[in-house]
Amino acid sequence: MKILAANGANIPALGLGTFRLQGEECTSIVLKALAAGYRHIDTAAFYENESEIGAALRQSKISRDEIFLTTKVWPSEVADGAFQRSVEGSLQRLGLDQVDLLLIHWPPKNSNVKQWARLLCDTVRNGWTRHIGISNFTTGQIDAMVDACDYPIVVNQVENHPYIDQTKIRAKCAEHGMAIMGYCPLGRGQMLLSDSVIAGLAAEYDKSPAQIILRWHVQHEGAGAIPKTASPDRLVENLQVFDFELSAGDMAAMEALTKRHQRLCDYDFSPQWDQP
Ligand SMILES: NC(=O)c1ccc[n+]([C@@H]2O[C@H](COP(=O)([O-])OP(=O)(O)OC[C@H]3O[C@@H](n4cnc5c(N)ncnc54)[C@H](OP(=O)(O)O)[C@@H]3O)[C@@H](O)[C@H]2O)c1
Repeated sequence: MKILAANGANIPALGLGTFRLQGEECTSIVLKALAAGYRHIDTAAFYENESEIGAALRQSKISRDEIFLTTKVWPSEVADGAFQRSVEGSLQRLGLDQVDLLLIHWPPKNSNVKQWARLLCDTVRNGWTRHIGISNFTTGQIDAMVDACDYPIVVNQVENHPYIDQTKIRAKCAEHGMAIMGYCPLGRGQMLLSDSVIAGLAAEYDKSPAQIILRWHVQHEGAGAIPKTASPDRLVENLQVFDFELSAGDMAAMEALTKRHQRLCDYDFSPQWDQP
């Protein structure tokens, strides 16, 4: 497994995304993921599955310090009182004293960056998280948060896959020593998986389209990805991307696909995205 060293954090480059995994299925798939070798799990208060993930962590009997656990605070909770209640609730549901990474899930609508930074940094000061990060932040918002925070920001978690151009976010994260953690890394399993360029590379390398895409992610400097699957077979498949390398020419052929710039996660509360 490639480990991303980002401002003092050591983050397994591939993690398990858990959005829409719930109940017994969630506990079971997280347990299977840990057994298959995953050591990075991504959740959020918003996903309403932290209790199930906490149960899997306990049942796995894997030492706590071997697992990198990320959770997130929803932007409406980024205010005094609500923020602390959100993090305390996450810790209680997870059954943990501390997470490894705490993210603000989306930039809040108000522009009180100093308050966002203070709330986030307080969670390091009081031991609720080892590291802090952000998600869905634009290049300007990254700069503002880096300036305002007393602790280093280690990650910006953003939509990333071969159908979206994240060159500017990637460069900004690198400038600040941060990792870029790609969500929807498989384009949610839609058109991307049947793309003809990717299908051609899958045949050439004798890998699945998902493996080609995930290899593209982790082959970028400072980049990771958190694919979600509810299938035990795909869990294993998605992790097996460290035994081959895409050539520079093939990386470039996949990079060319990003010019399509098809964003999957865009809402009325999204920030003003950087133009590619
Ligand atoms: N920070 C944010 O705002 C944000 C937003 C969205 C997502 N996220 C995080 O990112 C994670 C991943 O994103 P996502 O779940 O939206 O999308 P994704 O990981 O790109 O795609 C998941 C889809 O791909 C399918 N899939 C997985 N492995 C496959 C394989 N090897 N072959 C074929 N299909 C495969 C899955 O189906 P099966 O389950 O049937 O295998 C599922 O339908 C989330 O779970 C969440 O943790 C964060």
